[in-house]
Amino acid sequence: PTYTIVDKDTCIACGACGASAPDIFDYDDEGISYVILDDNEGTAEVPEDFLDDLEDAADGCPTESIKIAEQPFCAEKV
Ligand code: F3S
Repeated sequence: PTYTIVDKDTCIACGACGASAPDIFDYDDEGISYVILDDNEGTAEVPEDFLDDLEDAADGCPTESIKIAEQPFCAEKV
């Protein structure tokens, strides 16, 4: 399984991730990205259909703010 989360402290609101993976990422009022699937908790499994988009988004993020792991993230550690 694959999980993802945005490090909102390092995201510079560049907007590339939502373009690459509109089903996974959206932006808050400040333009900072978050994961739609689980409100950026990093605990919802990313559907297989979205994995290519996720990879593109992670590769395209200029600040490497998109974290990907095989285990759920622990919200307070981000
Ligand atoms: Fe932020 Fe990176 Fe997306 S800087 S808006 S997480 S591409």
